Amino acid sequence: SEKGINENHFLTIGEWSIQTIEHVLEQAQVLKDKQQNGILQTDLQGKILGMIFEKSSTRTRVSFEAGMLQLGGDAINLKSDDLQLGRGETVEDTAKVLSQYVDVLMIRTFAHETIETFAEAADIPVINGLTDLHHPTQVMADLLTIKEKKGALAGVKVAYVGDGNNMAHSFIEAAAKMGMHLSIAAPSGYEPDESIVKEGKALAEQTGGSITITNDAKEAANGADVITTDVWASMGQEEEQQERLDVFSSFQVNEELCANAKEDYMFMHCLPAHRGEEVTADIIDGAHSVVFDEAQNRLHAQKAILNYLLLGQ
Ligand code: CP
Ligand code: NVA
Repeated sequence: SEKGINENHFLTIGEWSIQTIEHVLEQAQVLKDKQQNGILQTDLQGKILGMIFEKSSTRTRVSFEAGMLQLGGDAINLKSDDLQLGRGETVEDTAKVLSQYVDVLMIRTFAHETIETFAEAADIPVINGLTDLHHPTQVMADLLTIKEKKGALAGVKVAYVGDGNNMAHSFIEAAAKMGMHLSIAAPSGYEPDESIVKEGKALAEQTGGSITITNDAKEAANGADVITTDVWASMGQEEEQQERLDVFSSFQVNEELCANAKEDYMFMHCLPAHRGEEVTADIIDGAHSVVFDEAQNRLHAQKAILNYLLLGQ
């Protein structure tokens, strides 16, 4: 079967093959259906997930831990300050040592290079629980949600309105792989990473998808099946918060913008959200919003990712 360039770990969507992404999404749906019928699949008995958080988390932390427990395994949650890592022990030594105790590691950190270094040094699978550059586990849950609600991924038109950040980058890789039409509207100077866009566009040409970058929110939202956004100031950008409020003011997802989308469009947001900033309360709390289904799908997606990395199934 076709393999992606790095399937021992889950660092980015781009490093997994289309086939693997499809497989993991199918398994996530199977696990979800089973759980909703009261059946727990406990194939990870005796396995331990280690989690290192250098940034805050509600969803990623709890869905990974709950998911691991439901699968019969266990999880250890670590803040980098709890570790010698916070006092200068190297990433490499930390990765080699933790590999002796746990079976899989999830890390949320700042620089994407840190997680690459971790993965190279570790003897066990490493999962990216968010870096400044990518948020692949979130986008797997988002793909699951789109597939569930819209019946397919290929051909679906997604408008991402806001910051060209980690969410935008993982969406670009996902849309390119899965043949989706992704239009990203960001203010000038806040567009997504050029090389990720370039690679995404090239791959989308082969898969029947498309990646469009614009500075016009309305243009992106036009005819969209899905409208999504994310915070204007990500974790680590707190000091830019005020400046970003001004820069992004015409990129708010509100009734007026959503009027350009298809009538049955759905609104998605990885959360946490700032009502009145990137999205108005009437949209995120309104009839088109699926944000809590999306949040629930984190759990099912994590379980499928863990099963794939630990058992190859
Ligand atoms: N969406 C997401 O990753 O949320 P947390 O920061 O709460 O994990
Ligand atoms: N872009 C946001 C996502 C939070 C889940 C951040 O990095 O803070």
